[in-house]
Amino acid sequence: MSILIINIKELLQVRDTNVTIVKGSDMNILPVLKNAYLLIDHDTIVEYGSMDEYSAIEADEVIDASGKIVLPTWCDSHTHIVYAGDRTQEFVDRINGLSYEDIANRGGGILNSAEKLQNTSEDDLYKQASERLHDVIKMGTGAIEIKSGYGLTVDAEIKMLRVIKRLKKEFPIKVKPTLLAAHAIPKAYKDNKTAFIDLVVNEMIPRVAKDNLADYIDVFCEKGYFDLEDTERVLKAGLAHRLTPKIHVNQFNAFGGVELATKYDALSVDHLEEMNPEDISALKHSDTIPVALPSCSYFLSIPYTPGRAIIDAGLPLALASDYNPGSTPSGNMNFVVSSACIKMKLTPEEAINAATINGAYAMGISNMYGSICRGKKANVIITKEIPSYQYLPYAFGNNHIDTVIINGQKFE
Ligand code: NIG
Ligand code: FE
Repeated sequence: MSILIINIKELLQVRDTNVTIVKGSDMNILPVLKNAYLLIDHDTIVEYGSMDEYSAIEADEVIDASGKIVLPTWCDSHTHIVYAGDRTQEFVDRINGLSYEDIANRGGGILNSAEKLQNTSEDDLYKQASERLHDVIKMGTGAIEIKSGYGLTVDAEIKMLRVIKRLKKEFPIKVKPTLLAAHAIPKAYKDNKTAFIDLVVNEMIPRVAKDNLADYIDVFCEKGYFDLEDTERVLKAGLAHRLTPKIHVNQFNAFGGVELATKYDALSVDHLEEMNPEDISALKHSDTIPVALPSCSYFLSIPYTPGRAIIDAGLPLALASDYNPGSTPSGNMNFVVSSACIKMKLTPEEAINAATINGAYAMGISNMYGSICRGKKANVIITKEIPSYQYLPYAFGNNHIDTVIINGQKFE
C-alpha cells in the first residue's frame, strides 16, 4: 500500500539527515518545504520534494492536500492514560478553594485513583484506556509513553503494565511503557515509607523487569512524596534491571532532583515548573532532556516551566501532555503546543520541534519518529485548509486536523 500526498501547502519538519534532537537556538529553526509532495510506502516515508520538481509517481492512493499543512504526528513522551474513572469531584473541590496538596493530604489525589484502579478489572481498565488512546491519536498523537503508578501494589502495577502492553499490541502507534514505581506512599505504608521503597526495589522492579513490562523507571521526586534518598534507591534498582530513569521532578519544589537524575543519566526530567540555576547547569552537562507539561500548569494554576529560559540556555526542550485524572485530564497535544506559545513564550517553530522530534527523543525513538525524513515511520498529520502553520498554535482550542496517518495508514 502506498500513499502519495500532493500539493501540500507546507510540509513541516523536513530533515534530509536524521537529526534526533534540536537544542537552544536551533529549536527556532523548523525546516519547511512549500508546495510539496510526500510519498509513503507501507509504513515508511520514502520520498518528498517540491511540486516544481515533481514528475508523476505511481501510488495506490493519491491525496490532494491543496491549502493544507502536513507535519509529523505529535510525540507525547509523558502520559498516565491507564486510569480508572475520573476525579471530577476533586476538580470541583479545588474550584471551591482546596489546593492539590490539601486534597492529597486528606487521602485524595493519587491515592483516590489507586483505590479506584485496584477495584477495576483489567478488561475494564483496558476499555477505558483504549478510548483515551483512540481519541488522542485522532488529535494527532502518533507515539506515546504511558506510565503505571496508580497501582501502588505489585499486582496492581503489573495489571496496569499489562494493559499498556495490550494497548501496544492492539494500536498501530508506538507505545513506550514506564514503571512509575514510586508515585505516592500507599495508605498501608503511611508511617513506613522505607518499607514501601523496599517493596519497590526488592519485588516490584525485579518482577516488572523479568516480565519485560517496562522500558523506563519513574519516581515522583517531590516533597511529601519521595525525597532524594528514596529516588536514588529506586533509580539504582531500576538501572540494575536495565530500566532507564525518566522522572517527575521539580513540580512544586526544587531541591536537587534534576542533578540527581542527570547523575543517573536519566533520559528525561519532567515537569520543572520550579527551577534553580543549578538545575540548568546540571542539564547542560548531560544528555537528559527537560520536558514541560503546560496543560498541567493550566489545569492546576501553577507556574509554567520556564521553557524560554531553558532554550535560551542552549538546552533542548520537549513538550508532553501529562494526560492523567488528577492534574491534566486532557491529552490534546495541539493545546499543549498552543499553551507553550501563549504561556511559555515559545515560538511556533520551537513548540513544534519540542512536540515532535524532541518528544521522540524523550522516548528514545527519535531515530524513527518525529520528523519527515526518508526511512522514518510514516506518521503524519494532514491539517484542514489553514492559512499557515503558525495558525495551529494561534487558533487554539479548535480542531485543525483533517487526517492522521499512522504507519502509512489512515487512522479512523
Ligand atoms: O504528573 N505529579 C505526579 N503525577 C501526576 C499527577 C498525579 C495525579 O494527581 O493523579 C502528574 O501531574
Ligand atoms: Fe506525570
